[in-house]
Amino acid sequence: MRPEVTAFFDEATNTISYVVVDPSTKRCAVVDSVLDYDPDAARTDKRSANQIIDFVRRQGLEVEWVLETHVHADHLSAAPYIKEELGGKLAIGSEIVTVQNVFGKIFNAGTEFQRDGSQFDVLFRDGDTFRLGEIPARVMHTPGHTPADMTYVIGDAAFVGDTLFMPDAGTARADFPGGDAHKLFQSTRRILHELPDETRLFMCHDYKAPGRDEYRWETTVGEEKRHNIHVREGRSEDEFVAMRTARDKTLGMPRLILPSVQVNMRAGQMPPPEDNGVRYLKIPVDTL
Ligand SMILES: [Fe+2]
Repeated sequence: MRPEVTAFFDEATNTISYVVVDPSTKRCAVVDSVLDYDPDAARTDKRSANQIIDFVRRQGLEVEWVLETHVHADHLSAAPYIKEELGGKLAIGSEIVTVQNVFGKIFNAGTEFQRDGSQFDVLFRDGDTFRLGEIPARVMHTPGHTPADMTYVIGDAAFVGDTLFMPDAGTARADFPGGDAHKLFQSTRRILHELPDETRLFMCHDYKAPGRDEYRWETTVGEEKRHNIHVREGRSEDEFVAMRTARDKTLGMPRLILPSVQVNMRAGQMPPPEDNGVRYLKIPVDTL
């Protein structure tokens, strides 16, 4: 069962969105779509999302699922716009509730902000199964980068979010609120040990790597096992945690973390408008 996967790379945030198609039914899933956002002007733009929408319409596909691997901290999700234009069920991991509690407090969101995941159509738990057209799919809870990260295994393809990067780039940071380097290591072990070596892995981000001049986002379980600079076979959890923790201390916050998280914790919806009809995003000072 081999879905056709088309990638859409957003150079502004180094994010890769995917359209995953069951060729026999032409049903598809849209994974981790991007709403363009200019933080200087606080202006959104649908250019990236429209490329996906145009592709889906041109190919005559029917959207069954709009999937988020996690609450992204580096880009705003276009999931509500994709769903409005194309349909499909919007899904994320059930631990979204933890993320909503943490960031609901940080942003002092009022009681209008439900912290029960009800902004999504489906909250997946570890081991849940679903179908994309006729292709069987299952969900793995792979926390560590954030508490709610999920890996979607659709046929022979797995969408790992920020749990793994390409082999020469390693792994994503684990120092956001709710992140945990131990859990991140254990999640990478589950992906590499529970899935067959030939499983195609699709990354959510790529930043190139030392000695590599083009963007890449597809690898395999076998390649990651042999070559991942942080978690290849033989690396110990303690070794990884020491490396990850030291490295995370050197990283600045992503440029779009404040707008991204307060929008994405609401499933990609902006906060409700104030009495003048304008929607506002907050900037908590000395908090992150
Ligand atoms: Fe992320």
